[in-house]
Amino acid sequence: MKALEGVKVLDFTHVQSGPTCTQLLAWFGADVIKVERPGTGDITRGQLCDVPDADSLYFTMLNHNKRSITLDTKNPRGMEVLWEMVKVCDVMVENFAPGVLDRMGLTWAKVHEVNPRMIVASIKGFGAGPYEDCKVYENVAQCAGGAASTTGFRDGVPLVTGAQIGDSGTGLHLALGIVTALYHRTHSGLGQKVDCAMQDGVLNLCRVKLRDQQRLAHGPLKEYSQFGEGVPFGDAVPRAGNDSGGGQPGRILKCKGWETDPNAYIYFITQAPVWEKICDVIGEPGWKTDPNYAKPPARLPRLNEIFGRIEEWTMTKTKFEAMDILNEYDIPCGPILSMKEIAEEKSLRETGTVVEVDHPKRGKYLSVGNPIKLSNSPSEVRRSPLLGEHTDEVLRDVLKLDEARIAAIVESGATGAVTRAAAE
Ligand code: COA
Repeated sequence: MKALEGVKVLDFTHVQSGPTCTQLLAWFGADVIKVERPGTGDITRGQLCDVPDADSLYFTMLNHNKRSITLDTKNPRGMEVLWEMVKVCDVMVENFAPGVLDRMGLTWAKVHEVNPRMIVASIKGFGAGPYEDCKVYENVAQCAGGAASTTGFRDGVPLVTGAQIGDSGTGLHLALGIVTALYHRTHSGLGQKVDCAMQDGVLNLCRVKLRDQQRLAHGPLKEYSQFGEGVPFGDAVPRAGNDSGGGQPGRILKCKGWETDPNAYIYFITQAPVWEKICDVIGEPGWKTDPNYAKPPARLPRLNEIFGRIEEWTMTKTKFEAMDILNEYDIPCGPILSMKEIAEEKSLRETGTVVEVDHPKRGKYLSVGNPIKLSNSPSEVRRSPLLGEHTDEVLRDVLKLDEARIAAIVESGATGAVTRAAAE
């Protein structure tokens, strides 16, 4: 049995943050019914298209294992159907702009009255405060959550990261809130509201930077390269380039082939317990006892020199050779893998973290599978639904509406443009 089998989710999400959350629930076995606007559906279906007349990878990679129903919620019949869904579902997830749900009449008070067991989970850009009414996208959240100001190099502009910590990160947070509320419901019998603001989600992932902000009041951050370079600290946490966020200094170093391969690099951590092994590997055994290098505090002002010397060694090896050698000595390191290398990595295919999915309109494509593995509830990845593919099925089998009512709904245009055949 799938871990979330029996849980019905009214998926009112779009773009990336909400769909990430409901995809996780679907992978764990929840019946996720995505409600989409007739005609267009989730806007990402048509964004960044690579195959004509097929749903984009943007959409397909965020909406696996779901069913799709088209419903015009600006049509009274459409809203009727939505309320029927509220009655039978366990969870409603949405990430509309602030105020949209209230304008639809789907207030928490009303939903709770109609179905007291329902959990209503929402993602917004900001929590209560000066920006609560703003529409927010990924990079806005990265900037407002403290990631951008602490990412990049000291002498460069703030940077956003490739990891979608604002959207997918908040979706993950929301999924945890939902399963927590589901667990609580087993005791209380009642649903509750689950709110996640993207700014908060990003800040949660930037926790160590708020740690450093407070440490700054008590002196310089000695593990930051800037300390060794003699550059004074200001009153806010600076960008630290590729310095490690923990107490163990780390850097990205060139490997063999770096002149032509933009990813011929390795992350190298000079972890204190393996310092002597590092000295042996790079051919500096004297550093094991030299008071300028032997102990971590002595090394902090010399990190540029030390990493320069280590890089002389890494440049003689490919990143994979370096990885093999360093791991023999338990020296923590990580090759900089390109997306091409990740897509081709056999072990990721074997664990189902990278999966090949077949889609009737676009053919085969790669996706990231469920990164969370449960020993008794494995999850398989099924293709994303076509727009409205399950409308009839949901009206009949889930909502159990009779034929006359279904005909009236279809005739009203609530599920999409009325074709002659449907109207007759
Ligand atoms: N049928 C008819 N209308 C529908 C519908 C349906 N099935 N589903 C949604 N709509 C309507 C809503 O009623 C609303 O209309 P209204 O403004 O007249 O009330 C509109 O579509 C939805 O809007 P909105 O959420 O404002 O979309 P947007 O494209 O303008 O904004 C975001 C997109 C992402 C900026 C915004 O939704 C947002 O800030 N979301 C919260 C934060 C978030 O998740 N951001 C990350 C996205 S990855």
